[in-house]
Amino acid sequence: MQSQPDKRAKELRELLSKFSYEYHVLDLPSVNDAVYDSLFGELKSIEAEHPELITSDSPTQRVGGELLGGFKKVTHSSRMLSLNDVFDRADVEAWVVRMDKLLPGTRHEFFTDIKMDGLACALAYQDGVLQQAVTRGDSFVGEDVTANVRTIKNVPLRLRDAEGFEKFLTGKTEIRGEIVMLKKDFNALNKKRRAAGEPEFANPRNLAAGTIRQLDPKLVAARPLSFRAYDLLRDEPTDVPTNMFAYEALSALGISRNQEASTFTDLNGVMKFIDEWSDKRLDLPFNTDGLVVKVNDRAQFAKLGVVGKQPRAAVAYKYAAEQATTIVKDIVISIGRTGAATPVAVFDPVVVAGTTVQHASLHNADEIARLDVRIGDTAIIFKAGDIIPKLESIVLELRPKGAKPFDFLEALKHQYPELSFYRPDGEVVYRVEGVTGPLLLTKAVEHFASKGALDIDTLGEKNVIALVDAGLVKDLADIYTVTKSQLLELDRFADISAGKLVDAIADKKTPLLERFVYGLGIRHVGTQTAIDLVNAFGTLEKLQAATIDELKDIDGIGEVVAESVAAWFADPDNEALIFKFAELGVKPVFEKKTGPLTGQNFVVTGTLETLSRDEAADKIRTLGGTFQSAVAKDTTYLVAGGKVGGSKLKKAEAYGTKIIDEQAFVKLLEE
Ligand code: IVH
Repeated sequence: MQSQPDKRAKELRELLSKFSYEYHVLDLPSVNDAVYDSLFGELKSIEAEHPELITSDSPTQRVGGELLGGFKKVTHSSRMLSLNDVFDRADVEAWVVRMDKLLPGTRHEFFTDIKMDGLACALAYQDGVLQQAVTRGDSFVGEDVTANVRTIKNVPLRLRDAEGFEKFLTGKTEIRGEIVMLKKDFNALNKKRRAAGEPEFANPRNLAAGTIRQLDPKLVAARPLSFRAYDLLRDEPTDVPTNMFAYEALSALGISRNQEASTFTDLNGVMKFIDEWSDKRLDLPFNTDGLVVKVNDRAQFAKLGVVGKQPRAAVAYKYAAEQATTIVKDIVISIGRTGAATPVAVFDPVVVAGTTVQHASLHNADEIARLDVRIGDTAIIFKAGDIIPKLESIVLELRPKGAKPFDFLEALKHQYPELSFYRPDGEVVYRVEGVTGPLLLTKAVEHFASKGALDIDTLGEKNVIALVDAGLVKDLADIYTVTKSQLLELDRFADISAGKLVDAIADKKTPLLERFVYGLGIRHVGTQTAIDLVNAFGTLEKLQAATIDELKDIDGIGEVVAESVAAWFADPDNEALIFKFAELGVKPVFEKKTGPLTGQNFVVTGTLETLSRDEAADKIRTLGGTFQSAVAKDTTYLVAGGKVGGSKLKKAEAYGTKIIDEQAFVKLLEE
């Protein structure tokens, strides 16, 4: 044992605090974890032997015992205010005009910082030692969460001694800031929970808030929270002349704060800061909910006063909402090319971060159960990384009475009655029974190249199998990437045949849109439906963005087809596929066919002598007519190849459909 345990303990405390500061605040560790752990162990054993040497700022004292009596209420030294929101330049200008009126002739210098999305907390240091941590509460009175905040590694238990800032180590120094959970820590935690089969946490803010209110500090210590300061208060206000000075002091005292904070002498600078962070903030380690703009000079700040809960001298700049609420109209399941069944939520269209969102992948049955999404629910939608819309959670209070939990297997049965599904061991997705990835892919590519679709006759079954087996084609778009030299490496191809195939594919880079849409292999989309869809929307982009209601509005398209189309385009894999086609220069073209038969609808029944059904359909379409599969209200002609059966005849009579024979039909085509 040490001859001078008190001296050794003090040295260890100081050194360990320094290491902790380097690691947690500067992110620049100077020793590895094992060295830290070993010195920490030594300090612990000295303290075990000499409990009288334990100080409250000892690194061994971060995690204390359970708070049996709950949290004590504490009145704040001054009210913890909130901020008014502004949304654009005009709002910011109006704010400055208001301040100019109150303080005429004053030049404002502005201070800007990132606004963190966490929970506010006030730390009281007495003579440099952490005394108390209090939540915002109702802005006047908060809860004493000191025991929990002590476990946050980047909250120093003692302020650092720094030249020029000594006065902050005497008397009371209050530091206010935000407790957050960093995105990486949140994701790592959820990953662990997923692996353990535990439900995932919804978002870092709620998790941070829930954690800080745990009564057992050991649980809090196990959750990686961080603190970032945004304010420094002293009884003597002139100790902190500007907000930028406060930030410099915070850094000197060993407190984490955003390095991004800046000052500007005019509004243009502020607006530039706003623009600059509009995208960049998504890469920050924590979630943000905008920016904070303040008057830098604290005397001016104080003079401007407070209205309600908000100081006049600061505003929160909010970027276009990345979240919105909408109604879950349906949950449809799409089958991907590997046979995986992916549920997709269909929404009432809603604008999130500038674009309209109408569906989001729900990934799998477990995710549906975790979110407990039900049809009719009000959902909170957000854009992950600002691109992919995701369903964050359900507003339970708004759930319609009688909304039933979504039964995934039941829905699969209903939507795909002729298929059976299984869930492979250890997987979360259901797959089509008896289908392996390549087999499904082979069929899909064959269909894409088939006569009714892109009509690439050299790309028949055997060639498709060869391309898929060789790994050259992993999705439909890949056929456009295949090169002659790649083909020549396969047994099947020689110089001429390889050249022919590559040319034939290249020849179909601008296919007719309806053929392309048909070729995608969307369930329930046959040639006529593809034509109907294309005629209604005109472009792939518009079709892609169509809502179920818009799809249902098209003549001849019912609920089942509409859902299937919407689900197909909502599947992220398919979205990626469409994008890939475009990247590869595949541009389907739309030609609205009009001709002598435009507006006339045909049904062919029985066998014709001079042409096949497909040829008849083709001719009708070329002349602008529509080929229907069954007699409906709007059928103009029923072409009878032979005798017409009773029910068809009845229908035709009821709808006033003209019944014509093959001769009359051929005449129509020739006119
Ligand atoms: S300055 C008078 N700066 O947002 C209040 N606040 O709506 C001055 N917040 O109460 C606050 N990041 O909880 C400031 N960089 C930041 C912030 C920030 C998050 C929170 C804080 C504040 C609330 C105001």
